[in-house]
Amino acid sequence: MERVTVFEPVGRPAVLVHGGAWAIPAPEHGAHLDGCRAAADAGWAVLAAGGSALDAAVAAVVVMEDDPTYDAGRGSFLNRDGAVEMDAAVMRGEDLAFGAVASVRRVRNAVHVARAVLESGEATLVAGAGAERFAWSVGIERIDPSWLVVERERERYDAACARGAPTFTETFGDTVGAVAVDASGRVAAAGSTGGTPFKLPGRVGDTPIAGAGLLADDTAGAAAATGHGERILKTGLCRDALWRLDAMPLDASIAAALERLRRRADGRAGMIVVTPDGKLAAGYNTPAMAHAYRAAGMPTAVAAL
Ligand code: GLY
Repeated sequence: MERVTVFEPVGRPAVLVHGGAWAIPAPEHGAHLDGCRAAADAGWAVLAAGGSALDAAVAAVVVMEDDPTYDAGRGSFLNRDGAVEMDAAVMRGEDLAFGAVASVRRVRNAVHVARAVLESGEATLVAGAGAERFAWSVGIERIDPSWLVVERERERYDAACARGAPTFTETFGDTVGAVAVDASGRVAAAGSTGGTPFKLPGRVGDTPIAGAGLLADDTAGAAAATGHGERILKTGLCRDALWRLDAMPLDASIAAALERLRRRADGRAGMIVVTPDGKLAAGYNTPAMAHAYRAAGMPTAVAAL
């Protein structure tokens, strides 16, 4: 069943983040809420200082990439080789500028590389070793990829190997994302992920694909998704929700896109949306989705599951 919350009219500027949609275990609720709150506060700090929606969305995602709670940056799931491989993307609604990277290993913040791809104007999606070389060429630090691996994920990987059946039946979805609108109604979206546990090396999900994992268009809004990328890709979840806004209210658009995902692709996911006039909403058809938002007049971000 789809669950959609439209937050009180908050106006502009505003930022909304998510930390993944899945059955988050109760003992982990605090960490997921705290991380989302810190990310929304970081995004808000950029907006309050007059920064752009894109800068705010990136700042929020960086906080969650650096937080090992989430499947993004440090703390990402390990692939079948026991390595972290990350996808990330950013999109600006004013001119549809888009930048994304896939399967990068030796950078700390994949979202910074995605942002650099956008700024380069030379490409929109760059993958693997080429993306890493591009990152280093624009001054992004090269790191030892072991820094990205945390004990929790090493144990999860070892358990999967010991089972001798390298498949996961659990539903995981700690991908992170942010959407923001600035004071003049310009929107942006950013997302980052380590993908799915024990994924095929080189596997790419929805996160770096415009229209699926995120979309930003000042004529409609900005959206960022989380969940099982193979399914989200099939229905183009973010595009589906934003295109419906011409014909239906925000909450109904999100619910309809999630319902279609479930009905047509058996997909479980969550998403966040901001509109150019400053409406914010979060929806999911999973047991929970950590999210947080902040706008003018709020002393700190408000987080919920
Ligand atoms: N939603 C993230 C992924 O499937 O890679």
